[in-house]
Amino acid sequence: MITKNINKAITELIQDNVVAIPTETVYGLAGNAFSELAVNKIFSLKKRPLHNPLIVHISSINELETIAINIPDKAKKLAKKFWPGSLTLILDKHPDVPYIVTAGNEKVAVRVPNHPLTLELLNQLRFPLAAPSANPFGSISPTSAQHVLDYFSDQLEVILDGGPCENGIESTIVGFENNEPIVYRLGALTIEEIENEVGPVKFHVKNNQTPIAPGMLSRHYAPKTETFLTNNIKSFIKTFPNKKIGVLVFSKSIDDSQIIHTEILSNQGKLEEAAKNLYAALHRLDEKNLDIIIAEIMPDLGLGKAMNDRLQRAIKKN
Ligand code: TXA
Ligand code: MG
Repeated sequence: MITKNINKAITELIQDNVVAIPTETVYGLAGNAFSELAVNKIFSLKKRPLHNPLIVHISSINELETIAINIPDKAKKLAKKFWPGSLTLILDKHPDVPYIVTAGNEKVAVRVPNHPLTLELLNQLRFPLAAPSANPFGSISPTSAQHVLDYFSDQLEVILDGGPCENGIESTIVGFENNEPIVYRLGALTIEEIENEVGPVKFHVKNNQTPIAPGMLSRHYAPKTETFLTNNIKSFIKTFPNKKIGVLVFSKSIDDSQIIHTEILSNQGKLEEAAKNLYAALHRLDEKNLDIIIAEIMPDLGLGKAMNDRLQRAIKKN
């Protein structure tokens, strides 16, 4: 059931049940991070492999030391600057955090989400919330309560409705090696913003054998409809005669008789607006029974980088 009543969420959570919560990035499937039972329910509902760890959501930076230890100075600096906000830190795990949350890792992912309803919820609870994005493993992340309902209908007693997600793309994940920041996943907090605070960052190099983060799997965030990514939609369409085509463009529509549905992410060409609309646009395109979706490569700066990362993972690779 979709509701704005946090008491309903609290009732479920203290019974080790899972509820959907809004955040400023995407909706999450939340449970008591200190309850193995609750965390197990998250994994089975999401059909997520147990080797893929979850993010722990806390109410403020003051709680950080109950979740993580040996916190590097640059991690503290980033947390102070960007929390509550779309930054997830990967840090040494506190012994109290159950291994099921971290998938057996000695590191834990943690963030303070920036959504008033969820902050209020976290403030009222006596425990932090483990939460992955509220979509079945591999599919497009939800940016509205309705998206969550479409995925999980009767499997969730409570979907806490916080409106459409303000940022619309997942948090940026930053870990540390020798106390220096390493970006694991591009996201709603831009690299430019992070580098302004702590100087140049490195990027985690993907190892295909053991994906550390499922967000780093090559096909993830994927629509059911076959999706392509190109710099030039107009000429790309010519290679698909007689197909029902939907297009996803940054700011300018394309005139072509084969296009049945167009999603423009930002008429004004604003990256923030485009990121906010990205997943909802993909959800809508996916519902139109199209033969293919063709997406345009976004401008390669700021949030455009994170959007291109997600679009790369949405396409079918042969
Ligand atoms: O914006 C977000 O981060 C949303 C909202 C709900 O907070 N959550 C989210 O969770 O995107 P999820 O589970 O869909 O993606 C979290 C990513 C995964 O790729 C996971 O593997 C990675 O974080 N992760 C979690 N714990 C980790 C750890 N200890 N080491 C490395 N990666 C970790
Ligand atoms: Mg996810």
